[in-house]
Amino acid sequence: MNQIFRNTSQLLLLFFLSIRTISAQEIKLQKDNIKEVIRAMTLEEKVNMVLGVGDEGVWKHYKTTGIIVLKGQACATYAIPRLGIPNTVLTDGPAGLKIDTIQNNVNHPTYATAFPNATTLASTWNKDIVKKVGQAIGNETLEYGSDMLLGPGMNIQRNPLTGRNFEYYSEDPLLSGEMAAAIVNGIQSNNVGACIKHFAANNIETNRRTINELISQRALREIYLRGFQIAIQKSNPWMIMTSYNKINGYFTAEDKALLQSILRDEWKYKGVVVTDWVSGQDFIAQMRAGNELLMPGNYQTKLLANAVKHGFLDESVLDRNIEMILNYIVKTPSFNNYQRSNHPNSAANAQQSKIAAEEGMVLLKNNENTLPLKSTKKVSLFGKTSYSFIIGGTGSGRVNNRQAASINEVLNLFKIKDTKQLEVFYTNYNDSLRRVTVPTMKVRAKNIIDFAPEPNISIEMIQRASKESDVALITLGRNAGELWDRDVDGYFNLSTSEKELLQNVCNVFHKVKKKVIVVLNIGGPIEVASWRDLPDAILLAWQPGQEGSLALINILTGKVNPSGKLAVSFPVKYSDVPSSTSFPGVPTNNPVNAFYEEGIYVGYRFYETFKVKPAYEFGYGLSYTNFEYSQLTLSNNQFTDKIEVSVTIKNSGKVAGKEVVQLYLSAPVSVVEKPKIELKEFGKTKLLKPGESETLIFTLDVNSLASFWTSKSQWIAEKGNYEVLVGASSKDIRSKGTFTLNKNIVTEEVHDVMYPNVFLNELNQKEVHKTIKTKDLILEDDDN
Ligand code: BGC
Repeated sequence: MNQIFRNTSQLLLLFFLSIRTISAQEIKLQKDNIKEVIRAMTLEEKVNMVLGVGDEGVWKHYKTTGIIVLKGQACATYAIPRLGIPNTVLTDGPAGLKIDTIQNNVNHPTYATAFPNATTLASTWNKDIVKKVGQAIGNETLEYGSDMLLGPGMNIQRNPLTGRNFEYYSEDPLLSGEMAAAIVNGIQSNNVGACIKHFAANNIETNRRTINELISQRALREIYLRGFQIAIQKSNPWMIMTSYNKINGYFTAEDKALLQSILRDEWKYKGVVVTDWVSGQDFIAQMRAGNELLMPGNYQTKLLANAVKHGFLDESVLDRNIEMILNYIVKTPSFNNYQRSNHPNSAANAQQSKIAAEEGMVLLKNNENTLPLKSTKKVSLFGKTSYSFIIGGTGSGRVNNRQAASINEVLNLFKIKDTKQLEVFYTNYNDSLRRVTVPTMKVRAKNIIDFAPEPNISIEMIQRASKESDVALITLGRNAGELWDRDVDGYFNLSTSEKELLQNVCNVFHKVKKKVIVVLNIGGPIEVASWRDLPDAILLAWQPGQEGSLALINILTGKVNPSGKLAVSFPVKYSDVPSSTSFPGVPTNNPVNAFYEEGIYVGYRFYETFKVKPAYEFGYGLSYTNFEYSQLTLSNNQFTDKIEVSVTIKNSGKVAGKEVVQLYLSAPVSVVEKPKIELKEFGKTKLLKPGESETLIFTLDVNSLASFWTSKSQWIAEKGNYEVLVGASSKDIRSKGTFTLNKNIVTEEVHDVMYPNVFLNELNQKEVHKTIKTKDLILEDDDN
């Protein structure tokens, strides 16, 4: 009997086990069974599902499962083959796909195209071009076997010393948001994802994993969050990456107010929230806040499983987060079995990179039409960077592209010679640097020349060069990257050897009536005011990607007419920067807190409102032709729900060119103060032939009139007279109009969240909200 019972129970057990296996085998992830699949997961699988697969060491384990690995990828999501869930691959970064050039089972180098950095792209002010760059990056992401591009970076360029500025677009949230939306739309048109980052206010690299930023609610809403909001509304990125920093006491990755109240509730964001790599401290808090995917993950497995077992983390939170992740996975090429070709459209993509570089370079100075070069046969190239062009920044924003040409190489392609003795001098210097290994992680061997001092060059050598060439070209280079911010001296200010080089070359060449051109091969603003009178022309080439030197020569020779304009102001001196006294934070040697006391007055909002003259203002840039602006027309002088503003631009010069047209608004101030002007719309004409015109039409809706009222947690368009200022830069206003709004309009009411946890002595025009020192008060117990 006993034996029979035992046999029966064994049979029953086998029966149930087989049912479980059969049903588990039957459930495979599909677009419409996500909840069911989650129910079929074990706790261990759930925990793994919200974590990346870890670093390379752990990743090796996955190689044995036969899943294709993309070497050099940033990480991958977890796979559960029994439930039909594949790994998906996430790769950096903002200026092109960052992968290794040698891949398993691929018999050719897998070079990716290095595109112009974000600042260059923003300086095009051309959404179509930026979208096409996105399409090209997305094509490489797809064909090399990745599912998600970890870019664009879109933080505000608050201070010129920030190490990662080159990965970001602008000091202005509208321009940043529009550029990010354009590139995301381009990337995602390939059915791969884009991940906007770093949410939010990732403006400091010093102590980036711990720094606590104290920012007013208004500055957050109007400056630091606004660009993200625009990008989400206009492009719906598949992913958003939280930043390392804290805002007002909370790590962004753990902040429910930011991730739930704002991102999900107010902005209705539907994609996945991923942490930056190894960020924050409290992984349970990250899960609960809705940071669904922890990267690179893997080391938190036990902790999260225990948290569920012991009641610190509700399993339903894991389920919610996994649902978001699976919603993403079902859209990916990996899930949809896309067979990567390993052959993206490299030639076309390189062409796109060149076009963007040509449109993003900014002509800062051009005395007596020094440029374009006319019948120039030989150029004297000065500066180490002329022979080692900087195509992009360092860190995760770097791209492993096929070698990019230096300026001298491209000049020669154009049948213009360079002075050989200079070439020998500088290439010897650069080669000697390449042989040195610098014992610091800040400087990668690849970029060693970018960070080395400019060599001193003798007057005799300059004199000889001046005799045998038609013109001098000096390239000044700067590089920067993740993990550290730059110093005022050595980065923002020119070094002594750079100043001497400029002075000596200008003296010598001008004596023999020859011109000097300066090329700035930099990722963000540097000091120009003290030396810009010396050379005849200055061309800001930025860090323009792998085709940059070709684009540069096309502009220098006039094949392309420059049309880029500054996406960031160039201050006269570092101390003019509104955050200069508080950057990076306090205590200065090892900052814990960063007080954003300049508030909303970032970039031109500060320079224009407080009448501090920049060296080159936001929106500035010259052309080889001139443009005339017609008187603008407003569809109405009374604002109801929108106003159309039209302006006609005519090329009144002698060569074809494109013009960036900017629309600023000066809003009335009766209750809440406003910056003097704010960018509300922009556009770029097509290539206008001499004499040709184009009419641009801009629409202002009520949201473009609104400011954030902290007292009410509302965006309000304030009644009064608005001035519309349309121009060629933030200072060069060519045409004006006015309209009136009759009553205050609340455009949006938002959650009253993310207030600073300390008093902020914020800059303002009205001298309100200032600390009153106790010694200024008559205290009751003064007599005692
Ligand atoms: C960077 C991110 C990058 C990630 C993955 C982090 O250190 O901050 O921008 O996407 O690494 O490489």
